[in-house]
Amino acid sequence: MDLRCLFEPKSVAVIGASHDPKKLGHVIFKNFIEGGFKGDVYPINPNIDKILNRKCYPSVLDVPGSIDHAVIAVPAPAVAKVLTECGEKGVKGAVVITSGFAEVGNIKGEKELVEIAKKYDIALIGPNCLGLIDTKAKVDSVFLPMYKLQRPKKGDIAFIAQSGAVGSCVIDLAAEMGVGISKFVSYGNASVVNECDLLEYLRDDPNTRVIAAYFEMVKDGKRFLRIAKDVAQNKPVIAIKAGKTAGGMKAAASHTAAMAGSADVYSAVFRQTRIIEVESLTDLFDYSKIFLQPAPKGRRVGIITNGGGVGVLTTDWAERHGLQLANFSDETKKKAREKFPPHVNIGNPLDLAGDADKERYEYALELLMDDDNVDSIITIILFQTVSLDASVNDVIIAASQKRKKPIIAISIGGEYTKKNKVILESAGVPTYTSPYVATGALSKLTWYARCTKEGVCIPFI
Ligand code: COA
Repeated sequence: MDLRCLFEPKSVAVIGASHDPKKLGHVIFKNFIEGGFKGDVYPINPNIDKILNRKCYPSVLDVPGSIDHAVIAVPAPAVAKVLTECGEKGVKGAVVITSGFAEVGNIKGEKELVEIAKKYDIALIGPNCLGLIDTKAKVDSVFLPMYKLQRPKKGDIAFIAQSGAVGSCVIDLAAEMGVGISKFVSYGNASVVNECDLLEYLRDDPNTRVIAAYFEMVKDGKRFLRIAKDVAQNKPVIAIKAGKTAGGMKAAASHTAAMAGSADVYSAVFRQTRIIEVESLTDLFDYSKIFLQPAPKGRRVGIITNGGGVGVLTTDWAERHGLQLANFSDETKKKAREKFPPHVNIGNPLDLAGDADKERYEYALELLMDDDNVDSIITIILFQTVSLDASVNDVIIAASQKRKKPIIAISIGGEYTKKNKVILESAGVPTYTSPYVATGALSKLTWYARCTKEGVCIPFI
């Protein structure tokens, strides 16, 4: 299936576009207009002449030009008819937002949509989905208003989610933290385009370097195994599987008509295919962003801190997650002793003390970057101290942009800290609140790098 018509259309029709700002068709049409999509956008509604100053057409068949992609937001009983019209018009991609199909027992209705899509060779996403976003092509059929769900900037992480709600939470988090995405797809009931098609497409997408996924079910286990293995060799895939308990399986069935399947089998398949499995939505976000860092050569981590206790906690979790505290080289220790005041603790963690300023961070980063005994660097920055301000971000960002080793940050605190975290994140430094999550993510990055290159995996707790 060629999915380019969905992500890179030249023209889009919004079927069910409405004047009423509370209707989904209105929000979708408005988002296309205001989101900066460069192609043609046609509102389709038989009852009105104009929407937002654009000529409205009764049907796609009345549109003079060709249409690559249709977003359908009309009630369930009307979907088959408008989808057929799309087929007759030669539309090659459709996103069916409408609910009321297999997830509520309307198997016949969903089957009809699949048959129409197959007859006309339409790549159909949904039904029962939230829409999709391509930040490069500025395609945005997500039916949530922009003032409520800020859109993330252009970036390298693609996110596919069977659940629209999960998807919206994660992209909201990404936007808030300044983390960019390449694509977002909520694929709902996965009636035609499913997770395998999306993974295959994203494997070859030059704008995507990391894939994050929320699965409720996999439609075709054998195909998934083959495709996931291939995709995860090429790009890291971070996934969360929902519907793991008896109650969760029942909820997934009525949510997206998913047959959730055994959690153990999924975990085994993920391990076999080198998909990185996570257990919470925040982990999905927190783990995905670290995979944009360069691959570490090994598991020896150097920690720089201006707070002793957070350094100790980070050390504990680093070791418990299978990382090793690096033994700094003699040269590193010598240079550090020469440069830093006597109260700086030249160990690992390298405790720069509570009066550390940006110059100390800069020098410490330089030393660890040049030390061959250090594979990755965790920089703990507690912004509450008097000697630190936003300018310390510049030195961390500059070191990170050399892309020699993975550099991540841990910063814990309130409003002032949060502002600085956004600066770091926006510049590509994964920044965490929790030593547990930071070291967990770093250990998975290390695991992935070792598994793909050497076929060996470090042990985890
Ligand atoms: N062609 C074009 N437009 C049509 C049409 C057709 N064949 N049939 C109806 N319309 C128009 C309607 O006239 C209406 O426009 P209006 O406001 O100008 O009258 C518009 O399409 C929407 O139809 P309406 O009957 O008002 O439906 P609605 O907006 O209340 O509900 C859905 C439509 C799709 C939103 C609703 O059926 C639905 O599925 N909601 C749940 C969506 C969801 O949760 N998805 C999963 C998310 S993860």
